Amino acid sequence: MERICGDACRVCGLVPIAPGLSGTTQVIVRSDAMQAVLKRASRFAASDAPVAVLGETGTGKEVVARIVHANSPRAARPFVAINVAALPADLLESELFGHGKGAFTGAATARHGLFEAADGGTLFLDEIGDMPLALQAKLLRALQDGEIRRVGESQSFSVDVRVVCATHRDLALRVRDGAFREDLLYRLRVLTLDVPPLRDRRDDILPLAYRFLAEEGTAVRGFTRAAKKRLLAHHWPGNVRELQNVVRHGAALATTDDVDEEDLPDELTRGVDPATSTSQPRNLRPLADVEREHILYVLDACQGSQSEAARVLGLARNTLWRKLREYAK
Ligand SMILES: Nc1ncnc2c1ncn2[C@@H]1O[C@H](COP(=O)(O)OP(=O)(O)OP(=O)(O)O)[C@@H](O)[C@H]1O
Ligand SMILES: [Mg+2]
Repeated sequence: MERICGDACRVCGLVPIAPGLSGTTQVIVRSDAMQAVLKRASRFAASDAPVAVLGETGTGKEVVARIVHANSPRAARPFVAINVAALPADLLESELFGHGKGAFTGAATARHGLFEAADGGTLFLDEIGDMPLALQAKLLRALQDGEIRRVGESQSFSVDVRVVCATHRDLALRVRDGAFREDLLYRLRVLTLDVPPLRDRRDDILPLAYRFLAEEGTAVRGFTRAAKKRLLAHHWPGNVRELQNVVRHGAALATTDDVDEEDLPDELTRGVDPATSTSQPRNLRPLADVEREHILYVLDACQGSQSEAARVLGLARNTLWRKLREYAK
């Protein structure tokens, strides 16, 4: 029953093997929802346009980014990943763009940045929603012109880098909060991949659980019926990463060939009904946010034509204009 996509996927033709830093991750894509994501990814792989991978924490955004790279004409070139939320703006700038000799105290020699390291390949900007504002303009310029400038140097030069970024944040909300540039959002969301939360693709849960159990390399071979029931019923706020940890926990505690329900962590066995629980984070958002996001999406898809967007949305043109003015405030 387990379907590990080691070969090209029958649906999308994509090879869902994601070469990672520690070996190669075999990617499980059993659910229709994940099949659809990979199918879309396969259409994006050949292009050089930036890709935004969106989804809750632990859903597999980096895995998807690696698949895009591994299936692109750039596969033989580097995949360079950086968490852009982890560094203060000035350090991040020299990390991404490099610096010239004497650019700042301690810069005894020139150093190339990650854009140069990824030349010919893919630069993966993780947590893009938290990128310092100060650097977003520089990133936008690099995306628009394909040129970068090292810190402390005046000459720009071109690099051949495909940018894939990921975030668990709602970028339109970040724009509204003034934390993300709208022009960068427009640039990045041309090609987007939405990785669904694990609770919305329950067909992936057991295949993933078996895969992670096999990776543990213990004598434990499977799950009892009761354990499987628990796995399938859980809300998975931490998504695939949480499942990985749960399986690890189960494999460590199992005393027979199968992981039983009491080998699973407490939060799975306490029997909390996710539908009635208030402790589980749910992705509940105000209607106005969803409306705004959809309107901007349609406007973008209509290449900025308000009359066309109004027609698609079924709104009067001045209603759309009024809403857009509201958003711009
Ligand atoms: N479809 C999959 N098949 C196999 N392993 C997967 C799959 N999806 C995710 N994983 C594994 O789950 C873990 C989390 O995946 P990943 O790091 O890609 O998630 P993420 O969305 O980038 O998380 P975060 O938001 O925390 O950065 C990783 O160890 C990854 O190898
Ligand atoms: Mg990640």
